Amino acid sequence: MDHAAIFACSHRRGGNSDHAAELLAEGVRRAGGEAEVLYVRNFEVLPCLACGYCDAPERTGRERCVLGPTDQAWDLFAHCLSARTILFASPIYFYHLPSRLKTWIDRGQQFWRARLDGEPWIADLPDRTAHAVLLAGQPSGEKLFEGARLTLKYFVHNFNMPLADPLVFRGVDTRSDLRAKGGFEARIVELGATAWKTAADRAG
Ligand SMILES: Cc1cc2nc3c(=O)[nH]c(=O)nc-3n(C[C@H](O)[C@H](O)[C@H](O)COP(=O)(O)O)c2cc1C
Repeated sequence: MDHAAIFACSHRRGGNSDHAAELLAEGVRRAGGEAEVLYVRNFEVLPCLACGYCDAPERTGRERCVLGPTDQAWDLFAHCLSARTILFASPIYFYHLPSRLKTWIDRGQQFWRARLDGEPWIADLPDRTAHAVLLAGQPSGEKLFEGARLTLKYFVHNFNMPLADPLVFRGVDTRSDLRAKGGFEARIVELGATAWKTAADRAG
C-alpha cells in the first residue's frame, strides 16, 4: 500500500477530467505521497459476458474471470488492491459514467462474487477510502451526479472502501473550462492532499 491510484475517466484527451486527475496527483505529491494517474481510455477492457464463470468458488484471484488474461482490466484492478487510496476524475455522460469506465466497473462482478464467498484475498483488504471528482457541462439537474455516485460507491465497496462524498462541479464543458476556474482547481488539489494525508494517517 504505497501509492494513490488516480483514474482519469474521460474519453477526451487533455480535457477537464485529465486536468482534474493531474491536480489530484499534485495534491497527493504536495502531501508527501506518490501518485499514479491511469488514463482508463488507454486500457483495453472487454465487457462482462454475464457467463457465470466467476460463480465457481474454486476459482480465485485473477482466475475468477474468464476474460482475466485476455485484456487489461486487471492492470487497473491491481491498483484497487494495492493502492493506499483510489480517486476518480470523471465527466458525466448522460447522467452517468463514461462507457469505458462502466465497462471496467461491470468486470468488478468477479470481486463482488469473491466477497460473497468470503475469499480472504478480497474480504481482508484493509479499510481505505475512495474519492471522486465529477464534472458536468450543465449548470443544473438535481440528480446529475447521483447515478455516477451510486455506481462508484458500490464498485469500491468490493475493495472494502467507502466512497467519500464526491466533489462535484457543474458548468464545466469545453476542454479548457476547468483551467479557467482557479477556485475549482484549488479545491481539487486540496482533495488530493487531504485524501493522501487521511490514508497515510490510517496506515500509520
Ligand atoms: C457523450 C457525452 C454525454 C454528456 N452528457 C452530459 C450530461 O448528461 N450532463 C451534463 O451536464 N453534461 C454532459 N456532458 C458534458 C460533459 O460532462 C462535460 O463536457 C465535461 O466537462 C467533459 O469532461 P472531459 O473534458 O473530461 O471529457 C456530456 C458529454 C458527452 C461527450
